[in-house]
Amino acid sequence: MKVLVTGGCGFIGSYVVKLLLAEGVRVVNLDKLTYAGNLANLREVERHPKYRFIRGDVCDPGAVAKAARGVDGIVHLAAETHVDRSILSPGAFVRTDMLGTYVLLEEARKQRLKFFAYVSTDEVYGSIARGKFRETDPTRPTNPYAASKLGADRLAHSYFATYGLKVVITRGSNTYGPRQFPEKLIPLTIIRALQRQPIPVYGDGRQRRDWLHAEDHARAIWRAATRGRAGETYNVSGHGERENIWMVRKILAELHAPDSLIRFVRDREGHDRRYALEDGKLRRDLGFRLSRPDIGRELRRTVRWYVDNRRWWEPVIRRNAAFKEYFKKQYGDRLRRSRS
Ligand code: NAD
Ligand code: TYD
Repeated sequence: MKVLVTGGCGFIGSYVVKLLLAEGVRVVNLDKLTYAGNLANLREVERHPKYRFIRGDVCDPGAVAKAARGVDGIVHLAAETHVDRSILSPGAFVRTDMLGTYVLLEEARKQRLKFFAYVSTDEVYGSIARGKFRETDPTRPTNPYAASKLGADRLAHSYFATYGLKVVITRGSNTYGPRQFPEKLIPLTIIRALQRQPIPVYGDGRQRRDWLHAEDHARAIWRAATRGRAGETYNVSGHGERENIWMVRKILAELHAPDSLIRFVRDREGHDRRYALEDGKLRRDLGFRLSRPDIGRELRRTVRWYVDNRRWWEPVIRRNAAFKEYFKKQYGDRLRRSRS
């Protein structure tokens, strides 16, 4: 089997590429290498005989047609993914997340591919005060990232309903593990704690997220792509619901860094309070089980990875001008007006 993976140089994409190669699948990875894409994420497999990398944009029909030649199916992860960036500049999100998905769906339709797996997110549901979201619940995204992902999620579904394309959708929860770009909560906290720099926590830090290990997220995506029913959506939960402040304190303790580094800063606009997913459908219908359910243990391993892999993250935060500029825009004023 040969599969086109988009966004394979990103965080979760790199786990998907490695998983597919380990399963003996031939992989074509189409990635634009935006600020979030990193060739180092796939260093161990770059010479693998079944792996091919194409640098290109999912919004470019020519690049997509070239990458999709002879494939059986597509696993689509490429996206702009950071909520805070989507609040600062939504345009890139509408373009890549929605238009890019359309271009890929068109190619899949033309070629009548055997499957199209769309990697969506729990953020499409919006916030839930109590209980857990099911796949049939209404969607109420609150930020431009979540709204663009939902647009693409529904467009993908429409290609099943209208053209009979075998579309399967996963909605995964907040993902963590080695190789996550240091703008998201966990790697940002680890790296700043290692440098003994202030750690920005939005609002009161009592927002809750359900944390899922990247390896399990990749396994769930592949399980849904290969065994999921056409037109169906599957929630993927890590069964790891924690408050943000719990996460931050755990990381500080692991690194023997003081809690006094914590700064409560101005909240994210439209910040969703709590995400929680009911994942019975994935477990019952597709027999899926988490292989890394112990969040305490996996968080310790993740922290260790960043401690041992400075060579991976130092260039990102030191030499990447775009990252520095983003950090100043997002946190400069917030940290100046913060409280500990
Ligand atoms: P990431 O930001 O780490 O990686 C995104 C990758 O997509 C990068 O390699 C980037 O270069 C590539 N890319 C961006 N725009 C592109 C374009 N126009 N053409 C080709 N490639 C492009 O993202 P991630 O955290 O690994 O997320 C992967 C997918 O999983 C996304 O679709 C995201 O919405 C979804 N998801 C993520 C999470 C999470 O917590 N990280 C949770 C649920 C779902
Ligand atoms: P993030 O990692 O950006 O993922 P998402 O927005 O997709 O959930 O954020 C996780 C949680 O951490 C979210 O509630 C926002 C919060 N957060 C902070 O408190 N401070 C930060 O600097 C960041 C990046 C996030």
